[in-house]
Parts: sequence; structure tokens; C-alpha cells
Amino acid sequence: MKIAILGARGMLGRDLGDICRAAGHETVEYDLPGLDLTDPPWVFRTIPKCDWVVNCAAYTDVDGAQSHRGEAFAVNCDGARNVARACARKRIRLLHISTDYVFNGYRSTPYSENDEPDPINIYGASKLAGEKAVKGEGGRYAIVRTQALFGRHGHNFVKAVIRLLQQKDSVGVVVDQVTCPTYTRHLAEAIEGLLQLDVTGVVHVSAEGECSWYRFAREIASCVRPAVEIKPITSVDLGRPAPRPPYAVLDKKRFTLLTGRKMPHWQQGLHEYLREEGLLPGERAAGDENR
Ligand SMILES: NC(=O)c1ccc[n+]([C@@H]2O[C@H](COP(=O)([O-])OP(=O)(O)OC[C@H]3O[C@@H](n4cnc5c(N)ncnc54)[C@H](OP(=O)(O)O)[C@@H]3O)[C@@H](O)[C@H]2O)c1
Repeated sequence: MKIAILGARGMLGRDLGDICRAAGHETVEYDLPGLDLTDPPWVFRTIPKCDWVVNCAAYTDVDGAQSHRGEAFAVNCDGARNVARACARKRIRLLHISTDYVFNGYRSTPYSENDEPDPINIYGASKLAGEKAVKGEGGRYAIVRTQALFGRHGHNFVKAVIRLLQQKDSVGVVVDQVTCPTYTRHLAEAIEGLLQLDVTGVVHVSAEGECSWYRFAREIASCVRPAVEIKPITSVDLGRPAPRPPYAVLDKKRFTLLTGRKMPHWQQGLHEYLREEGLLPGERAAGDENR
């Protein structure tokens, strides 16, 4: 298949390009400054004839969105609409990436695709508006909601914790937000599988299992620097500008029904990521053999 990837230089976009090419697909890849999703004629002109467009491009600064509402909506809502409109007119299938932050997280059971979204921050509201814009253009679409991504090609929680582990004897991490930390390579493999299956509608895709960010940080520390103490703190202690859903766990039953498989567990994702980055004691990064 020929697959156009938007946001191809982002954390997920990079892994998706690699996985799609390894699976034998042709990819065409776009990102800023070569393509700005907020410019409708530019988007229309640029999107090539292909089998699928996968939109990984987004305004992803969750705290920044609280004070830059216009920018977040311009990319996550208007940009998504521009892409969906171009795909609908050109009769190209669109797979759009969305987020668990469309839910408020006030429940204690996983959220299915049929549960009512109710975002509690601007980023989540802009992504929900983007989902509605994609659905409203009348083209053939799939929306993959995912969460808590970490990957080799971007800033993420694992890298941030490892940096703190190297600088401090004790690190405070929030215990009152529960999620499913998801390795972007595993997500990219799942997305490639969904493209092959010609999926439509909303699908939740994230790692199996669930944990607080505190538990996740403890696992990272135990692999990388066990001597450092990880202390539980609350979201109020941390005082970030954007409120986060306390329990944002996605129910993956539809994904399993569609694909006949489960996503790897978050611990497996973390260990594979650390191994590939050469961060497990005694192991070198993938691709380091010749350096
Ligand atoms: N990261 C997470 O934990 C997480 C969780 C749930 C869902 N998601 C969703 O997953 C998708 C991928 O996330 P990610 O973490 O891979 O994001 P990312 O690393 O921030 O990548 C997003 C890419 O989109 C580009 N972009 C931003 N504005 C654009 C515009 N106007 N036109 C074209 N490209 C633009 C960015 O370019 P610049 O870097 O130059 O701005 C960047 O290369 C997004 O839809 C995100 O909402 C992410």
C-alpha cells in the first residue's frame, strides 16, 4: 500500500514510517515546515493519491494548550478538518490519531469507544473537536485513540525520569493519575495492522495493563538506577497548568476483536524501549554495533 504520514517527524510518526516501510509499504512523509495542516489549500494540494493518510500531526503540549487555546484548536481541530476534507474529496481513507484525554477520567473502569467523552483540559477539548471534524467530512475514516506514549524519537516521560534519576537522590512522581504507558513502536505495529484490515470507526489502542505514573517511574528506576528513591506525590503537589484525567485507561476489546490479538503489556514496552536505547545495564543501543 502507499501510505501518506502527516507529522512524520514526530515521536509516533517516525516509528510508523519505519514500521510501514519494514512491512513493505511505500510511504510519503510530511511535517512542518513542508506541510502546515492549518493551511487548507496547502493540505489539499499536498496530499497525494494513496491508499491511506495517517494523521499523526498535532499540537501536543498539554500544559501549553491551556494558555494557547487558539494554536491547539488550529492544529488539532481545524487542521484535522482540513486533512479529512482533502481525503474525503480525493476518496482516500484517513486514519486519525486521538487521545485518552477526551475522557474526564472520573471513573474507575476502562473507557470503551462508546463511552461519552468529556475532556477536562484544552488539549483534550481540541482533540475531541478534531474527532468530530473528521467524522463530519463524510469521508471514510478510522480514529485511533491512544495514550501515554514513549518512543525513541521524541521527548517523553521515560527520558525525563532517567534524566532526573541521574541528577537526584529522590524523585517525586504523581500517584493519582492512572494510565497505560504505550511504546510507540508497539502502537505503530498495531496501526499498520489496522490499515491492512481496512478498519473504520473509533478504536482504542494502548498497552495492556495499567499503572500510575509513580508505579511507571519505579519500574524505570528499578531497571536503570535502583538506588534512587521514587516518592509518591499528588497532582496538586505537582501543580501543572492542565488538569489530567485521574483514571484514563482505554478498553481495548474492540482492538482485540478486530485483530485477534492483545497489545503488549506496558512493562514489556518499557523493557524493549530501554533495551533498544541501550539503557539496560550491560546492553548497547540498537544500531550501535558499528559505532
Ligand atoms: N505523546 C502522547 O503521550 C500522546 C498521547 C495520546 C495521544 N497522542 C496523539 O498521538 C499523535 C502523535 O503524538 P506524538 O507524541 O508523536 O506527537 P509529536 O512528537 O509532538 O509529533 C507531532 C508532529 O506534528 C507536527 N506538527 C505540529 N503542528 C503541525 C502543523 N500545523 N502542521 C503539520 N505538522 C504539525 C509536529 O511538528 P513540530 O515538532 O515542529 O511542532 C510534530 O512533528 C498526536 O495526534 C497526539 O495527539 C499522543
